[in-house]
Amino acid sequence: MERSSFKTYGILAYPAKHSLSPAMHNAAFQAIGFEGEYTFFEVKPEELVEFIEKFRKDSSMQGLSVSLPHKETILELIDDVNGHAKKIGAVNTVVKENGRLVGYNTDYLGFVRSMEEVGGVKNKNFVVYGAGGAARAIVYGILEGGGKVLSILNRTVSKAEEMAEEFSKMFGVKIDSGPLSMVNQEAEYSDALLVDKAVLVQTTSIWTLQPGSAKEVEKMFNPLFIDGFSTVVDIAYKPLITPLLAMAKEAGCQIVTGEKMLLYQAVEQFELWTGKKAPVEAMRKTLVVS
Ligand code: ATR
Repeated sequence: MERSSFKTYGILAYPAKHSLSPAMHNAAFQAIGFEGEYTFFEVKPEELVEFIEKFRKDSSMQGLSVSLPHKETILELIDDVNGHAKKIGAVNTVVKENGRLVGYNTDYLGFVRSMEEVGGVKNKNFVVYGAGGAARAIVYGILEGGGKVLSILNRTVSKAEEMAEEFSKMFGVKIDSGPLSMVNQEAEYSDALLVDKAVLVQTTSIWTLQPGSAKEVEKMFNPLFIDGFSTVVDIAYKPLITPLLAMAKEAGCQIVTGEKMLLYQAVEQFELWTGKKAPVEAMRKTLVVS
């Protein structure tokens, strides 16, 4: 293989070693015979400026996936930010376009695509649990895709309030906000609005932070209310069936597991980098998470 046409991509994060992206993208490169490799760029926040300069100068380096803690800080270091990424306030993909570094956000598209198997986001009502970076991309995706966000619930209520206000203004809609405990009233609330049952989307990192006891989960998500939702989505993928999804399944809700958003955000990245259709099945096969 001629080295000059060989392109390098990678996950820019700290830590980065746990990432499933290298397996997904390398399988995709192989499947379509693309001359590229995908690697890890484990870069601390204080090393980011220097890394971006190196990335700029090295002509073999053509693209980045960006993850925590760099998704917001990188906006200042690149040359252009796509309009959607600007509104979300985060970049998860960098593409070198004629030597310029352009930032995109494919997380919101990944979420919207992951919803396709349960009928998409259009005309559906959503309750979003969490108000961090992932929640921002998801709320944006829902509103951009023609869905409605009933409310944003978060441990730190002020963050939910600020986010609800910002997106309400951006899209000219009304979004409520409140504490996490409100999830146990939301189903009634949506019935009261005489609308279809809502979709609940869990975006926080609670399962990795506190591999919770059943009791903790019940406190957060009361089974009596979960069945008021038509569909429950959890974007965490370790474990794949989170305690919330187990409860939702039991209650007869449709469920969407978290590896799908991960897959489709990568599919969109791959297409931005290569201009070619991503081999979705080859990528999906690498995501054997349990
Ligand atoms: P991400 O990009 O994954 O969304 P983030 O921006 O750090 O990461 O956001 C983390 C989200 O998980 C926030 O909504 C956070 O709530 P706070 O705003 O109150 O911090 C939520 N979160 C983290 N740990 C939590 C916990 N133990 N219980 C409930 N929510 C938690």
